[in-house]
Amino acid sequence: MLTNISKNHFIVYHFLYTCCRNLIINNGMKILVLNGPNLNLLGKREPEIYGSQSFEEYFNELKNKFNNIYLEYYQSNIEGELIDKIHEVGFDYDAIIFNAGAYTHTSVALGDAIKGVTTPVIEVHISNVHSREDFRHTSYIAPWCKGTIAGFGLKSYDLAIQSFI
Ligand code: DQA
Repeated sequence: MLTNISKNHFIVYHFLYTCCRNLIINNGMKILVLNGPNLNLLGKREPEIYGSQSFEEYFNELKNKFNNIYLEYYQSNIEGELIDKIHEVGFDYDAIIFNAGAYTHTSVALGDAIKGVTTPVIEVHISNVHSREDFRHTSYIAPWCKGTIAGFGLKSYDLAIQSFI
């Protein structure tokens, strides 16, 4: 049975251990995975195109696989909230993995947000947008991104993270 004092010691040591481990293993690398509109429906939405796994479940797999990286997930259907999130982490984090969904093909404002921050952004798509409708062939964010990964299903996110390690 742990006493309260030794429990507190354990918590403090565990915290320090985790901080040191992160610093040693990955230099404290922080990556944001950012999903835009309708991607909250992954698993239910057009499964023949986007698969049948929810993003929350897939994100847990990513966290287990890349357990030496601080991975954060944020999703919004609102353009301005995506811009705010890019501003929030875009001078601090090591990378943003960004699936802008349909905003990819419409949003000058998201392109400007990416251009305006220093954190490198990778554009990802689950489907191969170039084999789909013409309007999906245009990306307003691609010119400001470090690179684009599209067409590998959810694995596109995994490949994007790998490009940073
Ligand atoms: C998508 C492709 C976009 O064209 C579409 O609007 C999406 C998802 C993809 O991941 O394949 O919402 O970004």
